[in-house]
Amino acid sequence: MRDVQDYIGSALPRFTEEILAFLRMPSVSARSEHDEDTRRTADWLHSRLSDAGLEAEVVETAGHPVVLGEWRGAGAKAPTVLVYGHYDVQPPDPLKLWTSPPFEPQFRENRLYARGSADDKGQLYLHVKAAEAHLKGAGALPVNLIILAEGEEEVGSPNLVPFVEAHKERLACDAVVISDTGMFAPGLPSLLFSLRGLAYFEIHVEGPSSDLHSGAYGGPVVNPAMALSRMLATLHDDRGRIVIDGFYDDVLDWDDETREGIRGLPFDEDEFAASLNTTLTGGEIGYSVLEKLWVRPTCEVNGLLSGYTGEGAKTVLPGKAMAKVSFRLVADQNPQRVGELLRGHLAAVTPEGVTVRVEELHGGMPWRAKLDGHLKDAATSALLKAFGAEPVLAGEGGSIPIVGDFERILGAPVLLMGFSHPGANLHAPDEWFPEENIEKGIRALAYLYEELA
Ligand code: BES
Ligand code: MN
Ligand code: MN
Repeated sequence: MRDVQDYIGSALPRFTEEILAFLRMPSVSARSEHDEDTRRTADWLHSRLSDAGLEAEVVETAGHPVVLGEWRGAGAKAPTVLVYGHYDVQPPDPLKLWTSPPFEPQFRENRLYARGSADDKGQLYLHVKAAEAHLKGAGALPVNLIILAEGEEEVGSPNLVPFVEAHKERLACDAVVISDTGMFAPGLPSLLFSLRGLAYFEIHVEGPSSDLHSGAYGGPVVNPAMALSRMLATLHDDRGRIVIDGFYDDVLDWDDETREGIRGLPFDEDEFAASLNTTLTGGEIGYSVLEKLWVRPTCEVNGLLSGYTGEGAKTVLPGKAMAKVSFRLVADQNPQRVGELLRGHLAAVTPEGVTVRVEELHGGMPWRAKLDGHLKDAATSALLKAFGAEPVLAGEGGSIPIVGDFERILGAPVLLMGFSHPGANLHAPDEWFPEENIEKGIRALAYLYEELA
């Protein structure tokens, strides 16, 4: 292990340069004008996996390619670890709100600022370098390793489940390790016990065949924007509960141990509220902020579109209205069923005079960890060595839909161990990653492979 950790110490400046190069490539999966950049990013990663000593391949899909790296030299008796990450990023706009441009990485005050620094290119690359440290520093990895990097996570991974199913044998493993989440607090590493799922819809409300003069027609004609607003307002009651019939049927009550664990975490609700410049009075009455974020479901409007929103006043009765509405789900809810329930609910509250159409955008199952003793122990001692602190068990309000699919298709437990800090501005301007965790993250992952063997 000496050699490996020494290698990390001496190669760190180059590792950091490579991360900066990775972050300079605008691999924005949602935007077709960045398709070539995204392809170039996949090719670049492919080369770096080869350089690190892995057998690498760019595998085509119907969308952005999957990049695979493999090393099977540890032998059939050693465990096989599958690392998953994504090399695509969210669109960077609004550009004006970035202190330094999103694809010109910059260190400021011990933070590395760039789109993708935390989500997820920066973190994915820590795994590549941890593997390199073993392969070049010690000549071998203590485990068989597969690194799977996808380029479509930020657009809902439309091609990944078919990919994993088609390559089930090749991807067979004893554990999946993912660094696409954060630490509970600086200096306090975390292992995740849950992720929320997602069910995302567009609700289209249509009224008259075109926009109308709101004076000449307003009154008798049902206004689609008003109809949609009224329908949206029926989704919650005054106590913050979602009132769709049957919505909570599959919501698990969490065990006392987890709930107590959550209560024991060092978390100051007032400080959190102050950092966001808001109150935390949303959500269901009777749950703490962390419970509302991690173990309770939500229903949110993510976007609204109707009528005139330009400068000044235009007296118009819009012909249609649209809302983007997403649900964060918790174990054991199912996005498909939530879609059916939503359709039923909307049909029942649609006012006369408009029609409603619900389109599904994407979804993913919630996930609850099945951390077996060995995996958890290995991660705990790896993190202790790298950070000087034992990890806490934490939940996460966000979603990584493929996690549940990995467990279902490959039958291997997933370990979520990430290194960004709270407030990392994921998906927002000024995304950042803590500079010190470039080194500590690589060291922790290098220790992890050792501990797992
Ligand atoms: N890395 C995030 C998941 C995440 C979010 C981890 C917040 C930690 C904190 C992931 O890339 C992501 O953004 N997931 C999307 C879902 C996806 C289907 C677009 C999300 O949670 O909205
Ligand atoms: Mn991510
Ligand atoms: Mn993301």
